[in-house]
Order: sequence, then structure tokens, then C-alpha cells
Amino acid sequence: MILQRGRLRPFSGTLTGEDPFRVIEDGAVLIDDDGEVVDHGDARTMIAVHPDTTVVPTDALLTPGLADAHAHYSQTRILGTYVGGLLEWLEAVVFPEEVRFADPAYARAVAREFLDRCEAAGTTDVTVYATSHPASVDALFAEAQDRTLRVTAGLVMMDRNAPSPLLTAAQEVYDESLALIRRWHGAQDGRFTYAITPRFAPTSTPALLEAAAALWREHPTCIMQTHLAESEAEVAWVRRLFPDAPDYLGVFERHGLVGPGAIFAHAIHVSDREVGLLAEAGATVAHCPTANRVLGSGRCDVARLLAAGVEVRLGTDVGAGTTFDIMEVAAEAEGVPRRRRSF
Ligand code: GUN
Ligand code: ZN
Repeated sequence: MILQRGRLRPFSGTLTGEDPFRVIEDGAVLIDDDGEVVDHGDARTMIAVHPDTTVVPTDALLTPGLADAHAHYSQTRILGTYVGGLLEWLEAVVFPEEVRFADPAYARAVAREFLDRCEAAGTTDVTVYATSHPASVDALFAEAQDRTLRVTAGLVMMDRNAPSPLLTAAQEVYDESLALIRRWHGAQDGRFTYAITPRFAPTSTPALLEAAAALWREHPTCIMQTHLAESEAEVAWVRRLFPDAPDYLGVFERHGLVGPGAIFAHAIHVSDREVGLLAEAGATVAHCPTANRVLGSGRCDVARLLAAGVEVRLGTDVGAGTTFDIMEVAAEAEGVPRRRRSF
């Protein structure tokens, strides 16, 4: 047993009602022989209560693990490469890079880099898009097996409007996803979760969305993740591709893809109807402010989402986002409480 002593951000399991700025300047956490934190508090009390422990001082901030609700591990090596807006960047940079993940060795190498960088940033829970190659999902989960991160991830489903090596017909991607769910969902004592991952509406036919919906109906404890209304050009394109849908979220709604356990990234250009539906359905928005800034996508009105009762989580959106560090994302996020301070 050791007592790590330093500046501590205590956490009792829920943020509700807690002072988000509470810090114990001289704190300590008790770590047992399995590496688990089993107690925390101010250092003097901890030393008195646990006298037979070795005290190890640290300069680092002692903080609970950080959670990243939206990242693409396949974009680790293209972080910081921006060309135009979202749709131009996807075509010019993202899709050519994702084609490389047909090589399982490449996927495994990038998975290692991605998880190393998550860990270095203090992230212990990450929700991830792989690519359209089933081996890219295997690479990520396999690489995470000997680590302690909680990983939620899935095969990217696309059947139109992307380069042909990245497209998979609806039935085939259903079969591939099902095999991956059976292999990885709930594995490692529940540390791994499978995410059904239709990339976004423009790369989906109704048949593909129906395949995603069938998977989710049959495996309701999986997460469903996609992108929603990130850029104005994307929203206009969705209106042309799905003329019968009332709005962007309506495309997912008609397939039963809006509910608890659904994570919609960005959700910038949304109507009051869409915000109301997200709240009523218990869906989550992944707010990715660094990505929104660099791609010029617009500003997500997080206060509006929160006021309507939508659950909002933070995402790095690597590699549109600029950083792996959720602390940096939080510093840039809308709707986060700010400490008022007079010097
Ligand atoms: N919309 C669809 N695919 C992507 C992606 O890879 N990154 C971002 N930021 N938005 C997307
Ligand atoms: Zn994304």
C-alpha cells in the first residue's frame, strides 16, 4: 500500500451538487497492491488513518480519470492537418488515411500510439471510431487488452459517398458488426463496450441505417454513435439526400436510432425540435469544441442543450480536434462553469 501525496481533486462518484473547483492542496490517495485507489482525503488525516504506508510525494495533479466521449483512433497521425471545412477535409485527408487501415499491422501500430497518448493525457475512458475494416476494431481492442482503459469502439459503417475501399453493403456490414459484437462487447469484465457506428447520414443509405438499427435492437446494451449537424454544408447535403426527413435528427429517428445510449457528436446546427427530441429520448451529445473551431464548423450552444435537459459530454474528436487532453477541451468548451476570481 502506498499513499501518493499531492494536489488532489477529490471525486465521490458524481459531479451533481459538488463544487467543481474543489481542490485539496495537500491531499493523498491510498493505492492498494493491485494499483487501485481505495481511499482519499487530506494528507494529514490519511497518514493518521493509514500509518503503515509509504508516503510518495508527487508534483502531478491527483485527479480521477478523464473520459473522452468522441475520438477517431484512425486519425491519430493526421491530427492538425486541416483543409477547408469538414467535407473537404474528410475527402482530402481523412478518407485516404483510413484506407491505410486495410493493413492490420498499420492499424495495430496506430492503435498503440492512440492509446499511449490517451493514457499520457489522463484519459481512462474513451469512446472511439475505428475504420470500415473489421481488423481495425480488433487491433484497437487487442491493443487495449493489457491496459486498464475503458474502451467503447466500433466498426465504421458506410455504404455511399466515400472511396470504394471504405464502403461496405448493408448486409455485409451488419454481419461484420455482429461478429465484432460477439467478440468484444462486454469483454474484459465489462471494460470493453461495442459501439454500433454508422459514420453520419451522408455516408448512409436507409438500408445501412436499418442494419444499424437492427443491430441495436438485437444488442440494446451496445452504444450507438454517429455525427449530427456539424457543418452547414453537411446539413444542406443531408436535406438533399433525405428529402422526406423533417430534419437531420429525423433521419436517425425514423430508424429508432435516437435513444439512451446514443452519442451524437457535434450537434451544432440543430432546431428546437431536434434539441427537444435529444432530451426526451435521453440521448447524449459529444461536444467537441477544439474540432469545431479548427474546421470552422460553428459554435455549439451547449447552454441551450443543457437547459433543454440534454446530456452533454466532452470529446477530443481526434483528429479534427487539436489535442488528446480533455482538460484542454474543457478549457475551450461552452457551458462549463468558470471560476470568477479577483486578484
Ligand atoms: N463527420 C463524419 N465523419 C467525420 C470525421 O471523421 N470527423 C469529424 N469531425 N466529423 C465527421
Ligand atoms: Zn468525429
